[in-house]
Amino acid sequence: MTPHELSLLHKKCFTFPRPWSTFEFEVLLKTSLLIVRPNSFLLGRLAGAEAEILTLAVDPDHRLKGLGYDLIAAFISEASLKGASQFILEVSEINIAAIKLYKKHLFKQIAVRPRYYSSEIGGEKKDALVLSYCPTLKK
Ligand SMILES: CC(C)(COP(=O)(O)OP(=O)(O)OC[C@H]1O[C@@H](n2cnc3c(N)ncnc32)[C@H](O)[C@@H]1OP(=O)(O)O)[C@@H](O)C(=O)NCCC(=O)NCCS
Repeated sequence: MTPHELSLLHKKCFTFPRPWSTFEFEVLLKTSLLIVRPNSFLLGRLAGAEAEILTLAVDPDHRLKGLGYDLIAAFISEASLKGASQFILEVSEINIAAIKLYKKHLFKQIAVRPRYYSSEIGGEKKDALVLSYCPTLKK
C-alpha cells in the first residue's frame, strides 16, 4: 500500500484520535514495519528488544473476520524474528473493540496515561491505557 492508500484507510477507521496524513505515513514508513493484509494494515516500530504497535486499521466493511487478530499475530512473528521480546502499545480507554482484541492476544495493562488523547471539539480528553505483551510470559 502507498502512503496515500494508508492515509485513506486510516481516515475510514479513525476520527478520534485524528487520522494520519499521507505525509505522516511517508515519514513513519522510513523507520517502521508495515504489515498489510486485504483491507487492513498494521504499522509498528522496533527499538531493540521492544516493539511498539503504532496503529492498526481494518476497513469497517471487513471487520470481525479475524483480520485484526491476524495482523497482530504477523507483527509479533516478524518482530520476534528481528529480536523483539516485548510488545507495547497505547489505546484509548473508550476503544472497547481494540482493547478486547489486544487482550485476546494476551496483552496486559501496565500503565495509564491520564487525559492522553485530545478530545473531539467539546469532548473530554481520554486516558490512554498502556498494554504490554511478553511472549516468554504467556499465561
Ligand atoms: C479494532 C479493530 C482493529 C479490530 O479489527 P477486526 O478485524 O474487526 O478484529 P478481529 O475480527 O480480528 O477480532 C478479534 C477479537 O477482537 C475483539 N473485537 C473486535 N472487534 C470487536 C467489537 N466491535 N466489539 C467487541 N470486541 C471486538 C473480539 O475479542 C474478537 O474476537 P472474537 O470475534 O472471537 O470475539 C477494528 O475494529 C478497527 O480497525 N477499529 C478502528 C481502528 C482502531 O481502533 N484501531 C486500534 C487502535 S489502537
